[in-house]
Amino acid sequence: MEKIGSATRIVPITWDEAKEEIVWLDNTQIPWKEVYSSTKDLGRLIRAIQKLEIRGAPILGEAGAYGTAMIANNSVNSNSDILKNITEQGKQLAEARPTAVNLSWGVKVIQELVFAAIKNGKTPSEVKEEAISTAKKIQQSNINATYEIGRHGKKLINDGDVLVTVCNAGTLACDGLGTATAPLRAAWSDGIRFKVLATYTAPLYQGARLTAWELHKDSIPVQVITDNMAGHIMREEKATAVWAGADRILAARTKECGTIYNKIGTFGLAMMAKELNMKTYVAAPTSTFDILHNVESVRIEQRRPEEVETLLGGTTVVPKGVGVLNPAFDRTPPEYVSAIVTELGVVQAPYSASIPRLLKTPGSMVKL
Ligand code: MRU
Repeated sequence: MEKIGSATRIVPITWDEAKEEIVWLDNTQIPWKEVYSSTKDLGRLIRAIQKLEIRGAPILGEAGAYGTAMIANNSVNSNSDILKNITEQGKQLAEARPTAVNLSWGVKVIQELVFAAIKNGKTPSEVKEEAISTAKKIQQSNINATYEIGRHGKKLINDGDVLVTVCNAGTLACDGLGTATAPLRAAWSDGIRFKVLATYTAPLYQGARLTAWELHKDSIPVQVITDNMAGHIMREEKATAVWAGADRILAARTKECGTIYNKIGTFGLAMMAKELNMKTYVAAPTSTFDILHNVESVRIEQRRPEEVETLLGGTTVVPKGVGVLNPAFDRTPPEYVSAIVTELGVVQAPYSASIPRLLKTPGSMVKL
């Protein structure tokens, strides 16, 4: 596959064959250091996910798949032990973070594969091998999906555009070209010239630390702005579109179809974009679509107050005794979303018709 940009040569997560463990690039250390960590211990993997060493919806899907394969691989050589462990420990892994649907999706794909392999009389060694090779295939299909998202989404980008990003939906979060960054990278490599305004994304600064780092590495012009500058700067700079990823996209055929769950701040940017006659584009693989839940049943992760009380764990900025709120994600209703770019193509409103049609397309990662 063609390499576009140097950041796309990063390997955010992988399986170490020799050590039989998961290896990942620790997102909490970027942009200061590129540090890889590894483990074969489920507790450590769950902590890495909860601390956001491993993060971003599609990478969480890969971590779910590799993690479940690791659980099978760690089991003694008996199918009943594998079955028990991937059921019980797989549940713990799937629940490590609640909002990105990809994590439980990745766990479920491997669990179902293992159940079927055992039913078909495979030996424990064969079951373990199949689980690991399927996790690798999931990673490869995620990477391929980002290239397809790039190919479809670049048509929405024009010379002179000013594009606003939120959080990090790049290689670090999604593998390959990233999701929201894929159309940008593909358009840039085709010679389309634009600039990017990356919003800080407080309190953990994934926009400043990670998206700016990735785009700068790829020589795509990027300026970082704080979250509260967005409205003013979008109007003054005549921004043309917001590009966001997604942690979950509601896909049941109801009026909520096309509702986007993404990093806190996305809803505000989409509202401002609508007011300023800008577009809001969301890019995500079909593994991010959720046909089972609705607005009532999706849980938005509430994170530790310390993340808001202190600047990246350092200086305290909130007076002692004052409360804080820290929802990690928000919900953007479909009427704010101009288009959703997936590996299978671009869909637009009415989403309750276009999304179910998309998910029936061969190659969809959603099992209907
Ligand atoms: O809390 P994070 O850093 O895991 O949140 C990630 C995001 O919200 C991304 O924008 C999202 O996963 C979409 S694509 C990676």
